[in-house]
Amino acid sequence: MNSSPGSTRYLEHAAHIDGVLGGLQTSGDLPRGQVDSLLDGHSAAELRRLVPLSYRRQVGAFFTPSNLKTRVTDVLRGLPGDSFLDPACGAGDLLLAAADVLPIGSTLSETLKTWGGSLHGWDLHKEFTETARRRILLSAINRHHSQDGKVHKISDLQSLFGNIKQSDAHRQGQIRVDAVVLNPPFTPVRVPRECGWAQGKTSNAAVFFLDSLRHVKPAGHIIAILPDSLRSGTNFTKWRALVESLTDVTHVERLGVFDPHTDIDVFLLVAQVRETSASERNSVAWWSKLPAGETVGNLYEVRVGTVVDNRDPHEGSSRPFLTARDLPSGSSMGIPERRRQFNGRLFSPPFVAIRRTSRPSEGTAFRAAGVLVTGGEEVAVDNHLIVAKPRKGGVKACKALIKTLNTPLTNEILDDRISCRHLTVSAIKDIPFGTAGG
Ligand SMILES: C[S@@+](CC[C@H](N)C(=O)[O-])C[C@H]1O[C@@H](n2cnc3c(N)ncnc32)[C@H](O)[C@@H]1O
Repeated sequence: MNSSPGSTRYLEHAAHIDGVLGGLQTSGDLPRGQVDSLLDGHSAAELRRLVPLSYRRQVGAFFTPSNLKTRVTDVLRGLPGDSFLDPACGAGDLLLAAADVLPIGSTLSETLKTWGGSLHGWDLHKEFTETARRRILLSAINRHHSQDGKVHKISDLQSLFGNIKQSDAHRQGQIRVDAVVLNPPFTPVRVPRECGWAQGKTSNAAVFFLDSLRHVKPAGHIIAILPDSLRSGTNFTKWRALVESLTDVTHVERLGVFDPHTDIDVFLLVAQVRETSASERNSVAWWSKLPAGETVGNLYEVRVGTVVDNRDPHEGSSRPFLTARDLPSGSSMGIPERRRQFNGRLFSPPFVAIRRTSRPSEGTAFRAAGVLVTGGEEVAVDNHLIVAKPRKGGVKACKALIKTLNTPLTNEILDDRISCRHLTVSAIKDIPFGTAGG
């Protein structure tokens, strides 16, 4: 077996499943708890135990957790077709999601034969594909056991699921399936000069998604778990346009943080490949439509603070210096006590200061909570803050903005538009004013 040094220890997990499969055959008993955990969650836990985080990051190996796998099964249940491919299948969690929608035959060997023809999976790591094959076999045994209470005899594992194999997805020839299921590596990758939608380095997930489309039959589907930056990031505007030109995007759903161990926001993208390039286009939106009317950007000048503290020279007059750590927890402050020499652009109060770094909300804090700054002296503002200054009006207009920012609707809009941590000037500008409570 051709295994990679970083992940060789994962073979222990495949060997453990062999032990369980052997035990089933000799005892004729199915230890329900152990089998359930092998089909759900345990393989990801073993990945964390046996493969160092540095290597998992390098190759983008993070297996789909149970709740997201179930979501993929739910989507597949509503789609036609019975042939599936995961081009970066890992230990097979999404192939198991696909197997869950396949019927079983009258005998285990009949089931294994049809599932073997239906399920295709590739991964760079043989230790993962070997695990995937064993888990799918276990799933088939489990399904038959649930139906008739028996543990059916297994034929030789080596001859089973030959379409799930070690392979580089980008070097594979085209195969055609009804649906591709995908949770690709999110690692950075350099795109060729001629790439029309990105330059330099981009997310491998975006590359994988586009490359996987060649394996989907016309009118077939792709169901993908992708980093939220592809849905909401301005860097991926051209990628989204390309996806819409090749497919009908039928479903976009924010899924929140991938799992408790992996702090990255993801979303579910379901798209149907066009039958012909001339077919009528019919995609859903990547984010919710904002209410019509005035926006914050129409009424306020919104900018990032201009001081890069560790880079800008301490030259010129001494100025009050506003930093994120000096912002009070309340909603207003006077001229900051901290001072710094600075030659660049200053801001004259009253204005609203907003922290740029904030987590997507869990319904508690307001992501864009603003602080009113008043006083009679111009202020140098650190670049970790966003400044909003009313185009017309003073303190009253600032307070109206703070009221607009401190609403659940603003939180919802910001989470939907930018799930990443950094608030952007354009996201703040797009917030509807008034309808959100201002
Ligand atoms: C995020 S994991 C997901 C695994 C599986 N799809 C799941 O949902 O649990 C991505 C997988 O892609 C594999 N991979 C990375 N580059 C690949 C390539 N060029 N071809 C095939 N697999 C690749 C990694 O080894 C890793 O197992």
